[in-house]
Amino acid sequence: MTNATRREALRAGGMSLAGIAAMLMGGCGQQAQGGATEVAAADSAAEASAQAAPRQLVLDTDSGLLARSEFIGLDEPVELADGTTAPAINFDNGATTPSLVSALEEIQAQLPLYGSIGRGKGQKSGHSTEQFGAARSVVLDFFGAPASTYTCAFAGTATDGLNKVSGALCGPDTVVLTTRSEHHANDLTWRARAAEVRYVEVDELGRLIMDDFATQLADGKVGVVSVQAASNVTGYVHDVHSIAKLAHEAGAIMVVDGAQIASHRAFSLKGETEAEDVDFFVCSAHKMYAPFGGGCIIGKTELMNAHVPAYRGGGMVDVVTDSDVTWLEAPDLWEAGSPNYFGQIALAKACEALSAAGFDNIEAHEQALLRRALDGLAGIQGVTVYADSNNIEDRVGVLTFNVDDVAAADVAERLAGGWAIAVRQGEFCAHPLCHRLMGYTDEQIVAERDKPGFSAPAMVRVSMGMYNTEADVDTLIEAVSTIAAG
Ligand SMILES: Cc1ncc(COP(=O)(O)O)c(C=O)c1O
Repeated sequence: MTNATRREALRAGGMSLAGIAAMLMGGCGQQAQGGATEVAAADSAAEASAQAAPRQLVLDTDSGLLARSEFIGLDEPVELADGTTAPAINFDNGATTPSLVSALEEIQAQLPLYGSIGRGKGQKSGHSTEQFGAARSVVLDFFGAPASTYTCAFAGTATDGLNKVSGALCGPDTVVLTTRSEHHANDLTWRARAAEVRYVEVDELGRLIMDDFATQLADGKVGVVSVQAASNVTGYVHDVHSIAKLAHEAGAIMVVDGAQIASHRAFSLKGETEAEDVDFFVCSAHKMYAPFGGGCIIGKTELMNAHVPAYRGGGMVDVVTDSDVTWLEAPDLWEAGSPNYFGQIALAKACEALSAAGFDNIEAHEQALLRRALDGLAGIQGVTVYADSNNIEDRVGVLTFNVDDVAAADVAERLAGGWAIAVRQGEFCAHPLCHRLMGYTDEQIVAERDKPGFSAPAMVRVSMGMYNTEADVDTLIEAVSTIAAG
């Protein structure tokens, strides 16, 4: 198809994005495989602009989850320590996830039509701007954030989003309440900008001590409460709507770090009552099977307009004179600089794919894998598993453990070298929580950290994705048994 024909088809609204993708990629779309069926996923981004046909996502007939063929590179062989190869088993999804075929296809489909976002009169600029706007709507819908109340501003990853939110909300006197369960992205960001940061404690299993919220909010001085929706270490899902109610009763703004909830559980910013609504929410697309640098900040529109982010530049202003500035409204106010268009349209595709798989299916699958993995590890002598292994209903598919007398880094290296299993070792950018789980006090760490030969405490983390299988878990258990046996 020539450029002229392509333009013609677009103008007539007669060429679907799936069609463009197939044309561009020589038919690289996935075929339905044995045991799988084709199901249409609404392509609302495309519908909004060009009467597109829905892309066919392949779902597994038994589980309802996206078929493994919907993910890129799952069975890619990697080299083992002995020089042979084996298909990689990825249990490092908490860090980042492989890409969906649909996300990559969307990027490839849109590349020939790419133009500047929101700033030009060219046709490609118009098309891309429309796609970008449609992606916002998809993301808002996915996170249960009605456009009448909320605005989606695209950002980088959750770290970028949290830095922007804290930069906008923190004044010289702002008191922030967060927790000892947080990733550094939702802790150091506030330490950098708030007048005071308070922390809700965790119990010996790493669960938030919920009563602590009311205690810490009682003096009415807290201006912002910021809590993760799920932990990247324990997998606990937090009742952020109840926390939002307490925050609002105390006159604070409620911020939620959604990095670990987005691809694991259905999440809605709207609570059952307005008091339970989340005010700001951030997430990372690369933890949602769209690893192209996308992410978002969703906020209550009136709050987004009332707080000018400290992150500034072009695109957020109406008029700049020699001495002052008049600001645009959100989302522009929160999107200084040129956007990561492809990262964000990929994020929207990931939202559509996750919705097609269904969070009931995702949750059931993760719970089954988590139970199997925890039971398997419990049967291995010399293995310590952290957090609550008995009651796991409030956990996404993440677990941490250690093997007696084997450093976490060595366990991780042997899992990779011997079985092609990717996990993460260390403290997962959540040092205060990991210290607590392993039984170290702050005083011990402070006393030891500057001594020669100090090695930071560490554990091994297994974090699951929707494509992981029981066989993956069984291989993990077999591998850890071998390592623990010495
Ligand atoms: C709970 C949580 N919050 C925030 C982040 C930061 O995400 P990113 O590295 O994508 O900015 C992570 C990353 O692992 C996380 O697990």
